[in-house]
Amino acid sequence: MCGIIGYVGNENATPILLDGLRRLEYRGYDSAGVAVFENDDVKIQRTEGKLSNLELALAESPIKGSFGIGHTRWATHGHPTETNAHPHRSGDIIVVHNGIIENYLELKDLLAADGQVFTSETDTEVICHLIDYHYQLNGKDTLNAIRESITKLKGSFAIVIMNAKERNRLYVAKRGSPLVVGETKDARFVASDIPALLPYTKDMLFLEDGDHAVLSSEGIELFDENGANIEREFQHVPWSPLMAEKGGYKHFMLKEIFEQPKIMQDIFTGRVSGARSTIVLDELKGLFDGNKARFDRISIVACGTSLHAAMIGKHMIESLARVPVSVDYASEFRYREPILDERTLVIPISQSGETADTLAAEKLAKERNCPVMAVCNVVGSSITRIADATLYIYAGPEIGVASTKAFTAQLVVLYIFALYLADKLNKIENDILKERVAELLTLPRLLKQALSLADDVMRIAKDISDASNILYIGRRLNFPVALEGALKLKEISYLHAEGFAAGELKHGPIALIEQGTPVVAVVPQDGTYDKILSNIEEVKARGAYTIAIASDQDESISSKVDEVIAVPKTSKYLTPIVAAIPMQLLAYYVADHKGTDVDQPRNLAKSVTVE
Ligand code: G6P
Repeated sequence: MCGIIGYVGNENATPILLDGLRRLEYRGYDSAGVAVFENDDVKIQRTEGKLSNLELALAESPIKGSFGIGHTRWATHGHPTETNAHPHRSGDIIVVHNGIIENYLELKDLLAADGQVFTSETDTEVICHLIDYHYQLNGKDTLNAIRESITKLKGSFAIVIMNAKERNRLYVAKRGSPLVVGETKDARFVASDIPALLPYTKDMLFLEDGDHAVLSSEGIELFDENGANIEREFQHVPWSPLMAEKGGYKHFMLKEIFEQPKIMQDIFTGRVSGARSTIVLDELKGLFDGNKARFDRISIVACGTSLHAAMIGKHMIESLARVPVSVDYASEFRYREPILDERTLVIPISQSGETADTLAAEKLAKERNCPVMAVCNVVGSSITRIADATLYIYAGPEIGVASTKAFTAQLVVLYIFALYLADKLNKIENDILKERVAELLTLPRLLKQALSLADDVMRIAKDISDASNILYIGRRLNFPVALEGALKLKEISYLHAEGFAAGELKHGPIALIEQGTPVVAVVPQDGTYDKILSNIEEVKARGAYTIAIASDQDESISSKVDEVIAVPKTSKYLTPIVAAIPMQLLAYYVADHKGTDVDQPRNLAKSVTVE
């Protein structure tokens, strides 16, 4: 959601800013702009729509200078027009912003009464006028004008500011929305997310709430919320710029789907030992006193795809470790008066580590003195900084807006955690643990086998791509897989799809079935096999076109459904991970067949940093 990039150095800033914005495109946006210092003033270029429009405009009227800021805007206040696009300017103050200013109308009225003229509908323009107002008032001291202004802002922001009268200098400040800073010998950079800085440095400084800084030719000066000079440690991000490129695939999403077998090894390393049949999670030491857990129950909070992983994690943890688990949409958690105490382990799950609702839920847990264990992909992200411990999912950068490899990585990490907890709490016998560990290590092979079905899935995808409504069904651990399959399809193909617990069909959703309505069912050969076959019969009898994601050892399934996607047979815990692959491929191929923007679907953002 909104991309920010800033550069101060010796090179021409414009191509660097455009490259940074390109690397942040995946966050989702609908307009873009840059401001670059050229010939004693700052020139701004902004355009509606995709970055290519901005590139065209800049090709026609180039701007050249050694420092500047860039922004991709995901509209919140006001339409995605050129006038609402960032950067915004008031006097000498130029601002780009990510986040939401909740009291912007109040501030706008005050500033308008003072004679300031607003040209956009955005909340951001208020920040710009407010800084300018203080700047004029305090005898043109930019840093203090920024300090005074941010104390008056309610809501969340990551801002980068230029002053048209000051050379080679950027100001940055953050509260609630992410900002990361990096430097090389000759240049300083700031961005809203890691990939924009990867071509220049892997050592990054993640700003804390209240932090503000000055980036200049001399270096980086960092201040805390009280204005005191501070130092913070740079963190090493183990990603390469290549990892954030398509690598020959048509879309990032397809690349990320095919990366899944490979990332499993990164998840296992140092944690899962086949030779010793053990699970070691050193990162969780603080959550245990010896073998005793510092918690009696678990509460998981997450959004979107991460929420679906949470639902499956609940099954895994309860079934293996026998610890009660509740799962909440992070956006609902705070508003339902959850029962929390210091013996409730709260687990925020988030690929990005920046989702505003998940972060807010995590903060509530901390206020209530709950131990917090994050499950996250992005090193140094806000959610990991607040947590007492983090289980990283090591999926590498995920660029496609629709989450794929992060989902399966989250599932694997949650499964490893469930086994670890079961072992600690003596809820699993050694030989069973040994079997589970051995089976877990076969996962890369199982996922490769599932990926080898891509051509079959593509054929089925073409057949169903004209449907107006598609249902997904599953039971137990595979019910959330059905939800996730439907979510993937909605997100990138814009087809209406819903996932249901198969047993619930009769209580309403079956009314949606018409002649030819595709129904995708996860049908593992487990204790619910007969039940789900009955559900399939019920929808077939009403004209559904049935597609089963079934075990490759199920010889009779092909006579019971219209299409079979035969995935390798495995235990109930790994089945959702394996079944997720054809779900992802099906959504991908439907979307690709329809020609939608797979990696940046309309209206969506990769990282939702506003509530
Ligand atoms: C957005 C993304 C989804 C993602 C969700 C939660 O809606 O488009 O793909 O599942 O946020 O994101 P998180 O980073 O917290 O897992």
